[in-house]
Amino acid sequence: MDNRIVRPFPTPQMRQDAPSASLGLTRRLRRNRKAEWSRRLVRETRLTTDDLIWPLFLMDSSEARTPVAWMPGVERLNIEEAVRQSVHAASLGIPAIAPFPFVDKALRDPTGSEALNARNLMCRAVRAIKAEVPQIGIICDAALDPYTSHGHDGVMDGERILNDASVHILVQQALALADAGADVIAPSDMMDGRVGAIRAALDAAGQEDVQIMAYAAKYASAFYGPFRDAIGTNATLVGDKRTYQMDPANSDEAIAEVALDLEEGADMVMIKPGLPYLDIVARVKDHFRVPTFAYQVSGEYAMIMAAAGNGWLDGDRAMMESLMAFKRAGADGVLTYFAPKVAQALKAMG
Ligand code: PBG
Repeated sequence: MDNRIVRPFPTPQMRQDAPSASLGLTRRLRRNRKAEWSRRLVRETRLTTDDLIWPLFLMDSSEARTPVAWMPGVERLNIEEAVRQSVHAASLGIPAIAPFPFVDKALRDPTGSEALNARNLMCRAVRAIKAEVPQIGIICDAALDPYTSHGHDGVMDGERILNDASVHILVQQALALADAGADVIAPSDMMDGRVGAIRAALDAAGQEDVQIMAYAAKYASAFYGPFRDAIGTNATLVGDKRTYQMDPANSDEAIAEVALDLEEGADMVMIKPGLPYLDIVARVKDHFRVPTFAYQVSGEYAMIMAAAGNGWLDGDRAMMESLMAFKRAGADGVLTYFAPKVAQALKAMG
């Protein structure tokens, strides 16, 4: 005999009788979601302006700004404009910026020698920004890709990227940036041993207060595409970066990378890209309990902006949701091209 209870599709009559048709549940998670005041009260994660690091693009130009075609809403700034934008960022309460240079093609060579020029675009910009807005943190990439004719982060011998020879140059680049006033050196090159070498050199130069934010787990990712347009390395990059950046298939290896960078003296670690690697962010934070950052990279920004531009999603909501997701995963902060927009939005919310 079939004694299953048949639950008929609710008839208008049943809906009218709804109160007596209670399921008798003791825990109804929807109750706390019934109104905005209640949702605010039980919210587990906060996104604030203190969580934002703004990456921006520098250029040597008489023009104040030029658009980055593959990143709608992002522009390259000349030094004067970068100073103005830094003042603006500071007034919004953004703690730090991360400038990247578009280097004149004529200045690029196989060893990236312009990176060591104390009067290069980055060093001049850092000095100018520090002079005008000393209260904003300046995080400077240590990597050779904006300066090399082949677009790699290190120097090459034929097809090979040389590890130790690259570290030797990166150390000098870091010293030049620290001299110019960089508050944080962020090695993004993924050479082995560079954090320790940079730390030792900074200390020896009396720059023991300069912090290191290591791009600790940086993956060989397709999501960097628009960035390479922004700094003009897309056309020049020879081959790919898979012999030094991490394999997207690996997770235990990210733990090993972070462990080494911390042993070598990193003050903060970063995972990059961001959203496709939230599992790594969560794992690193849980494992090490150190200041952990994520980089919402150019391709992630471009995806949201392109879909929003087509009317396929609400760009502002997607922006806020994506940043909240980083916080929920355990990130202490996020490098994001949305930083000024998010800071404005948070300010408007009060
Ligand atoms: C280069 C560097 C890259 C990014 C930051 N530093 C690109 C790369 O490794 O090719 C990417 C940032 C982004 O995509 O927004 N060392």
